[in-house]
Amino acid sequence: MTVNKLNRGVAVVGAGMSQFGAFPGVTTRGLFIDAFKEMRASVDKGLDPADIEALYIGNYSSTLFEGQGFTAPFMAATAGLTPIPSTRVESACASSGAALREGLIAVASGIADVVLVGGIEKETDLPTERVTDTLATASDTLYENPAGFTFPGLYAALATAYMHRYGATPETFMRVGIKNHESGALNPKAQFGKRIADFMAGKRAKAEKQGKPIPDWQDEMAFLKDNRANPVIAWPMRLFDCSPVSDGAVALLLVAEDIAGNFTDKPLHVIGYGQASGVATHDRADLTTIEAARLAGQIAYETAGVKANDIDVVEVHDCFTVAEILASEDLGFFKPGHGFRAAEEGITSRQGPRPINTSGGLKSKGHPVGATGAGQVVEIWKQLRGEGGERQLPGELSLGMTHNLGGSGQACVVHIFERRQ
Ligand code: COA
Repeated sequence: MTVNKLNRGVAVVGAGMSQFGAFPGVTTRGLFIDAFKEMRASVDKGLDPADIEALYIGNYSSTLFEGQGFTAPFMAATAGLTPIPSTRVESACASSGAALREGLIAVASGIADVVLVGGIEKETDLPTERVTDTLATASDTLYENPAGFTFPGLYAALATAYMHRYGATPETFMRVGIKNHESGALNPKAQFGKRIADFMAGKRAKAEKQGKPIPDWQDEMAFLKDNRANPVIAWPMRLFDCSPVSDGAVALLLVAEDIAGNFTDKPLHVIGYGQASGVATHDRADLTTIEAARLAGQIAYETAGVKANDIDVVEVHDCFTVAEILASEDLGFFKPGHGFRAAEEGITSRQGPRPINTSGGLKSKGHPVGATGAGQVVEIWKQLRGEGGERQLPGELSLGMTHNLGGSGQACVVHIFERRQ
């Protein structure tokens, strides 16, 4: 694919997010305002909202989740931004990664100097079965759907193909879940701010209170292998292999690089940008890799002029635990078939040499699908600026990456950010 450079540099100068979780009675507009306010507060030298010239908002399906289509102008009005142009960007779970790319293009083209990029999704007003059906509208309704696939099923198919080819086991995937819950426990915005050990303690306490036998799991793996504690959703993906059903919103501020200093002395420069599409699962020759992710990653490295080894911190799209392992290979951090060993050996933990998903990932932080891609940028913003709190990685970090997938991998958007010291 041809890769052209931006006409001018673009930087992120503000980032904020709402709490991720299940919030009955809270409106999407309320969540977006939470994110907008936090973004505004994060702009070191202040932001006059009147300077914002356009809004690009990622949203998968407010139409089906909430019965509210036409989301972008409502969000612009809620944030007091009318009459600026506002555009909803839809690319399934990659919607706000794609919105970020549209914002980037707008600023790089010169049509705007200051752009707000958002992401929103409010899923929990529906019962799980209707959420599953709504999400399944992002699968191929001619082929995948009639074959009985929902998203847990699609990723289960990728997981079994990977296990078959390389020898990974269901326990491999459980390691990813344990790791991401460890990190999510340190993220105050996470839906599940709990380690697996905390879930175990909670279930033991509940059993004791109810006068039932207290489970005697020896360790986290024993808990995760217990069918009652961790039921199979679509084998080998169990409950703790799945990202949850979530509500949440995110707001990012993008500006032209030459005015970034008016907003902060610590901007993140967007130096790499890759996006690609792929075919649905039934048309793929190989289910152990996601071609769109490999291509988007390659383009991002090429535009940034860096290699996988140069990246200090990365947020990948672990909608299911297997997806994190595939991403770690597709982005070139490990060779094909080696990502699962890295997960087993703790190489991808916060303490390891290749930390992945310090935020807790989608698994623990939550996955309000249209907000997820922009939410990944919030973590990179914090880590590269040294504001990651208890989960901050050590040392001076300069390069961060986000990998946002749509569907079972038919869309992928990758960005690379640089913090210049
Ligand atoms: N991980 C861990 N625990 C979870 C969980 C998850 N993903 N989802 C729900 N739970 C917990 C709840 O907190 C609750 O715990 P409690 O009994 O201690 O209160 C319990 O499981 C039951 O919650 P409930 O909401 O009734 O679960 P559910 O069975 O309706 O939904 C899934 C579980 C896995 C089916 C649902 O989370 C799901 O569909 N996830 C995938 C979403 C998806 O496909 N996204 C798009 C990806 S491409």
